Amino acid sequence: MSDPIRVLFVCLGNICRSPLAEAVVRDVSKKRNLHERYYFASAGTGNWHVGGPADPRSAATASQHGLDMSSHRAHQITAHGIEDWHWFVAMDHANRRDLLNMGAPASRVLLMRQFEATDDKQTADVPDPYYGGPDGFEHAYAMLVDNAGLLLDFLEANTSEQD
Ligand code: 4NP
Repeated sequence: MSDPIRVLFVCLGNICRSPLAEAVVRDVSKKRNLHERYYFASAGTGNWHVGGPADPRSAATASQHGLDMSSHRAHQITAHGIEDWHWFVAMDHANRRDLLNMGAPASRVLLMRQFEATDDKQTADVPDPYYGGPDGFEHAYAMLVDNAGLLLDFLEANTSEQD
């Protein structure tokens, strides 16, 4: 079997949104029996939380939906690590801009919500729930669930170029 497709979910701190995205998309990939084709991980563009666990509010939201984030430890993505990944999935436009500034090729940087049907010209962000209340985490979870299948559809359709 060919090597797994390496997909990195990226946010600012790697404690709230991107570890939740990683858990949600991995779960959907398992339900579709696609998980062996992928290696999913997550990272932040900032270094404040490196080595630490997920934010307890994010972990609690995951847990309420049957997902386990207890083994998560925060990582930072830097220019040195760009070559390690086939795809980057940014949670918001600032994360995307930071990845491009690190040298990530634009053709490999996706936005988590870019496949969502919308009337707006600009792709929406997964808003940062870090400074908000617990509702923000449930809201982020719902957005991630809504978009996980669409993201996997795209990755499946665009896998041949990774082989
Ligand atoms: P995340 O949320 O990018 O979704 O993990 C944040 C976590 C921590 C900080 C900012 C956003 N922070 O500034 O420490």
